[in-house]
Amino acid sequence: MTPIRKKLLIIGAGPAGYTAALRAAHYGIDTALIDNHQPGGVCLNRGCIPTKTLLESTSLAAAVNSGVFGLQGKISADLTAIFQRKEQIVQKLSSGITSLLKARGVTLFCSSARFTGSKTVTLTDGQIIEAENILLALGAEPALPSIPGIELAKTSDDILSCNFEKYQQISIIGAGVIGIELATFFSQLGSKVTLLEGLPTILPSFPSDTVKYIGMALRRSGIKTILNTKVQSISQQENGNLLVYYEEKGKSAALDSELVIVCTGRCPRSIEGLEEYCGIHFDRGIPTNEQGETSSPGIYAAGDCVRGSIQLAHYASARAVAIINSLAGKPVHTNFDSVPSCIYTIPPAAKAGLSEKEALDSGHQIQIGKFNLGANGKSLISAEERGFVKVIFDSENEQLLGIELVAAQAPEMVGMLSILIAMKAKRSDLLRGIFPHPSVSEGIMEAIEDSQKQAIHVLYR
Ligand code: NAI
Repeated sequence: MTPIRKKLLIIGAGPAGYTAALRAAHYGIDTALIDNHQPGGVCLNRGCIPTKTLLESTSLAAAVNSGVFGLQGKISADLTAIFQRKEQIVQKLSSGITSLLKARGVTLFCSSARFTGSKTVTLTDGQIIEAENILLALGAEPALPSIPGIELAKTSDDILSCNFEKYQQISIIGAGVIGIELATFFSQLGSKVTLLEGLPTILPSFPSDTVKYIGMALRRSGIKTILNTKVQSISQQENGNLLVYYEEKGKSAALDSELVIVCTGRCPRSIEGLEEYCGIHFDRGIPTNEQGETSSPGIYAAGDCVRGSIQLAHYASARAVAIINSLAGKPVHTNFDSVPSCIYTIPPAAKAGLSEKEALDSGHQIQIGKFNLGANGKSLISAEERGFVKVIFDSENEQLLGIELVAAQAPEMVGMLSILIAMKAKRSDLLRGIFPHPSVSEGIMEAIEDSQKQAIHVLYR
């Protein structure tokens, strides 16, 4: 087969890869994109989009069934219809990406790729592609801890890419973002869910106030959390159920579960021939510099496959776009210091910029403002008043350093707030704003005003 020559080859069509391809094509760069699955990556096919779609249905049912809205009748979940809706949304978004790629002239290959030269890859059917520049956007896959019987557990990829029945008893290993979102979904479906976490806290990547609120929300939903635990083994019983043996306070115990899900982080993916042909040593991810360049000139990496990367879809896309902008000689505007992060619990939580502890640890004198949403009209109207808005300012120059939200609208609010952090907005700038009434966002202004009343903050009142 005659080799195909391209200016840019992108391997992996997840949020990093397809966003980069669209941007490159927009700049007129002759681009090819390869993936062995339909475009969208884990985020669209087996991650963010499926989870949030499932949660939307069960949360609506839970809200109605809570009885607080004066609505009568018990809503029950039709799992087949819920899965159909999830599949329709996934397919609509994926085919939308495919159409956009085609419309912009990106050459799309559905295949696996391996390096067979420093700037050459070979596809499964033998097609050779040579490119001046290669962007690796390979993503990550579930990390499996070395627990005897772990092969009996399902990963989030398994759960979100298929349809399943209702389960009575579920054990989830790992109380990070994925574990807690899946626990919320299954508990709303009526399953009895237990989270088994190795650390002394849930959600180790979130600030302590948020963790406290999410912990309370889990308890209210009847989700049991066992912290500081070591899962010893998983075995199958005669009735098909699984037994999860774990250690708690020095004692052994077992959980009878119909389903065990393992959510203990995700490992960056590599690609065959990376070291042999490109001299790039994969070590817990692909090493890059701040600009996304690997040690091999013309080879870049972005997203979850990068060593030490924040594993978030929007971060992956932003990094990939920054690489393409610089490749095309365009300015790179993105600020990576205020990347928002969300968890879609009930209520959801979000953060951007520095947490209170991070701000203090990095030497800032800070002022905190906090507003409890129990006094916010819109939160009461939607029965989502168990939350707060917290702002963190530098007390010397009054610059907004960080934001923490536990609120129904948290993921919608945090994006704009992260821009304000990136712009180094001052409190006086923010006080010029007017928020619509009634809205959850009024809580932001209340928190900002509260910060003016605070004396220089003492860590963890
Ligand atoms: P994670 O790193 O957020 O949490 C994994 C948890 O498992 C940790 O709390 C860890 O202490 C625990 N753990 C590890 N080994 C264990 C063991 N042997 N026994 C018990 N506990 C153990 O990873 P997660 O939840 O799998 O998510 C992977 C990535 O995907 C994260 O970076 C996350 O931010 C991202 N993600 C983001 C979402 C969002 O933005 N809403 C949704 C889903 C995933």
